Amino acid sequence: MPKTAIRQSDQSVIGLFRAIGVDARALPRTRPLYRRLVALLESAIARDALAAGYRLPPERDLASALQISRATVVSAYRELEARGLLRGYVGRGTFVSAKPDAASAPFAWRGKIAAAALLSNDTTVRDLVRAAADPDVMSLAAGVPALDCFPTDAFQRAMNQVLAKQSDAAWRHGPTEGMPRFRAALADRFGGEPEHILVLAGAQQGLDLLARCLIDRGDAVVIDRPGYLGAIQTFRGAGARLVGWDITRADTDELEELLLRYRPKLIYTNPTHQNPTGITLSIRTRRELLELAARYRVPIVEDDTYRELAFAGPPTPPSLFQLDDTHTVVIRINSFSKMLAPGLRLGWISAVRPIVDQLTLIKQQVDPHTQNLSQLVVCELVEQGVLDRHLSTLKAEHRRRRDAMVQALRQHVPPGELRFNVPDGGMYLWCQLAPKVRARTVQDLALRESVMVLTGNPFYVDQGGDHQLRVCYTSQPSGRSAQAAKTLARSIVSAAEEPADARASVRVV
Ligand SMILES: Cc1ncc(COP(=O)(O)O)c(C=O)c1O
Repeated sequence: MPKTAIRQSDQSVIGLFRAIGVDARALPRTRPLYRRLVALLESAIARDALAAGYRLPPERDLASALQISRATVVSAYRELEARGLLRGYVGRGTFVSAKPDAASAPFAWRGKIAAAALLSNDTTVRDLVRAAADPDVMSLAAGVPALDCFPTDAFQRAMNQVLAKQSDAAWRHGPTEGMPRFRAALADRFGGEPEHILVLAGAQQGLDLLARCLIDRGDAVVIDRPGYLGAIQTFRGAGARLVGWDITRADTDELEELLLRYRPKLIYTNPTHQNPTGITLSIRTRRELLELAARYRVPIVEDDTYRELAFAGPPTPPSLFQLDDTHTVVIRINSFSKMLAPGLRLGWISAVRPIVDQLTLIKQQVDPHTQNLSQLVVCELVEQGVLDRHLSTLKAEHRRRRDAMVQALRQHVPPGELRFNVPDGGMYLWCQLAPKVRARTVQDLALRESVMVLTGNPFYVDQGGDHQLRVCYTSQPSGRSAQAAKTLARSIVSAAEEPADARASVRVV
């Protein structure tokens, strides 16, 4: 086919040829034509040269560029659609939907998955949770409190009490909003009104419900940069356009510019012992944030998961929810995952009544109500003051673990190779590597020695985190910090010594 046959103006066809990486002029000489086109497209999709979401050129344009019949292109597209690799939408075009299944797969399930579901393709949380449960891995990656402090005896006593006196309530269906006594206990201990509370199976469920409730595809959401990776994934999965607000500068003028420019549907922030940076926003910044939210009529989702985990130090500023005294613009999310244990799967949302009502209706579709037994038992722990006593023990232990990890890293990692602020609460060290050291390489090398840390990347809505690591210092007893620090030190030194091209090819096997 003469070169001029490809219309230079047709970027879509030219882009496709570039992606499939062949001299498309060879196509007409190979028969049967449509099979050849299928094979080329399939191979490009398999190696991600054409990624999910890629829009293929219209059939007519591709046919004319290749000087083949439109029917041939239609046949190729239809075959790939039938196998689930492409999906056509009337009026919008044909898009890549999924990679080919393994040749041995009995049925092309990938291709049947809804286009919206394919947005949920980030495996970070699943990998984290899996490693945290693996006894052969020392995980400093997942956010886990000191579980050996868990008040097992008190929990067992409370459970026995519940089963002896309230077994009916434990085994019946319960209200979707949560058990009334539990909501009252939460309001009493953590503030707010019982009827403004919706009990959840963990904070992450709250983020999912809020995304379903508030976000339409394409809506902008302003989120901490760096910010909690679970929120990034959930909002992204809901089709939001994510805009990062630099939490390390916490400049409210910058936030105002983002509000003006993007007109976001909501602001998500984790302003107290933030995950991952450990930053706590000052009361002044909090007031300015509230003022902006009210002025631009943008709700704030305040993730208050780490509030109770402050060590001794200056008093923690009130939550945005508390400062918003009429509770009109702030929706607060809380969880027992860091106060007690993530395995409990227990959290709650506090919001104005219409939002709680709407969230309740959405929740009942996926989770008619949060498990009664854990609500009743934790209710006892809150009411009897067990939770507060446990929090004192937990914070003292977390502080010991922080000190041990800080000291071990300072002792074993060569000076200047790992910089971090010492946090006064929360669970993480947010570490900066030297510019020549890639976090991904350090992560891979440490994992070869069965120590897992997280790179900074998943905490950024855009590019970022290539030279940052998050280390959860609370997850391992202080006696193991030296081993963790030595492994990290070795990994950092090796990562720094490797030539750039070798570094890029390090993979965990
Ligand atoms: C800021 C933040 N929000 C929410 C969650 C999720 O908590 P849960 O286990 O209650 O779903 C986490 C867990 O790491 C978190 O760090």
